[in-house]
Amino acid sequence: MSSLSNKSVLLGVSGGIAAYKSPDLVRRLREAGAEVRVAMSANAAQFITPLTLQAVSGRPVHHALLDQAAESGMGHIELARWADVVLVAPASANFLSGLAHGAASDLLTTVCLATTAPIVVAPAMNQQMWSNTATRDNIQLLSRRDITICGPATGDQACGETGPGRMQDPHELLAAVAAVFTTGGLAGNKVVITAGPTWEAIDPVRAITNHSSGKMGYAIAQAVAESGAEVVLVSGPTALAAPHGMRRVDVVSAREMYQAVMDEIDDTDVFIGVAAVADYRPSRNGLQKIKKHAERLTVELVKNPDILATVAALPNGPYTVGFSAETEALEQHAREKLMSKGADLIAANEVGFNKGFGVDDNALLLLDRSGSMTLPRMRKSRLARALVDEIIRRYAEHSGQDPRQAHRH
Ligand code: CTP
Repeated sequence: MSSLSNKSVLLGVSGGIAAYKSPDLVRRLREAGAEVRVAMSANAAQFITPLTLQAVSGRPVHHALLDQAAESGMGHIELARWADVVLVAPASANFLSGLAHGAASDLLTTVCLATTAPIVVAPAMNQQMWSNTATRDNIQLLSRRDITICGPATGDQACGETGPGRMQDPHELLAAVAAVFTTGGLAGNKVVITAGPTWEAIDPVRAITNHSSGKMGYAIAQAVAESGAEVVLVSGPTALAAPHGMRRVDVVSAREMYQAVMDEIDDTDVFIGVAAVADYRPSRNGLQKIKKHAERLTVELVKNPDILATVAALPNGPYTVGFSAETEALEQHAREKLMSKGADLIAANEVGFNKGFGVDDNALLLLDRSGSMTLPRMRKSRLARALVDEIIRRYAEHSGQDPRQAHRH
């Protein structure tokens, strides 16, 4: 099953007996790596307490549209923006009717109206209510609007009847949510991504490194994997777990990273250099720890190979995307890098205290030879998906109808 790591899932719970299954659903979504917030209708609170859902989600539960405390924390519009996907399970006949007709009568319908995130609904109701023409019409309307209808399943119902109307099983719901993020934009392509810092040893216990957490590179790798590509993530030392659905090659130094990339590059279609590669390494790395005898110590540094520039200069090389981490004159330095490194696209971001490295959100300026555009500040996981969408679009343009061949001269 696909992983939901780095995904913000808003679980909407509407009024129906199947609401008793919601805590289990929250637990499974979290096990799949998602961050979960719960919004429930007033009727849902008759079947399951907000406290239960708060305990399993680890977050306050949202249930009132105009609640002063909630609005000062995360209000309904913020909640709508926060969600990467909205899953409403169970979705009652009343909720589906409200959704189909654009109601904003309670928190749940309002959030659904205000969000740009994809919506998945899991209808659950008495089988006669499900078969009623009014419900059928609402479902048709919702399907036409690209809302995913998951279920209902057929079987024994809480009301004693048998038929279609049971809430779909949790694993089916998780698969439907994961499918929302799975695109085929890079299917059949191999993508190599570098991420994290490098570690340039001075002696066996000390090194020169930097503040890169690897979060951006890993988020990009995940978004690329979701686009159907074969992904090789060449990673410097980070505290992050290997993301789902890709091969990770662990390296320490810039030279190891260079070698690992070169070993993979021949059949690679797209290369994305996100790593904060150390530009220099100590010229000598002794076998013994340096003792503190001398008053002054000089460490001589020599230049590391430039991985991005080397890949971009390959005669039949891949489409290359570089990052430009700058503390000032962002656009100017990024444009210089685009030209000097020969990359096809540069994604530039500001780094410095509380910016870029280690933090959870970021903004990017994208530059190629035809112009520039900005991806505004957002969570790194969402920014990564926006960047990958741009890479897919530009790579398709660059390579023409046959993406695997056209860029190979
Ligand atoms: N890069 C690389 N190999 C290096 C240095 C950098 O592949 N030895 C890549 C990075 O992964 C990134 C891009 O080059 O995609 C730009 O990195 P950055 O550190 O911003 O630029 P530098 O080339 O190091 O230039 P400067 O430090 O002078 O800004």
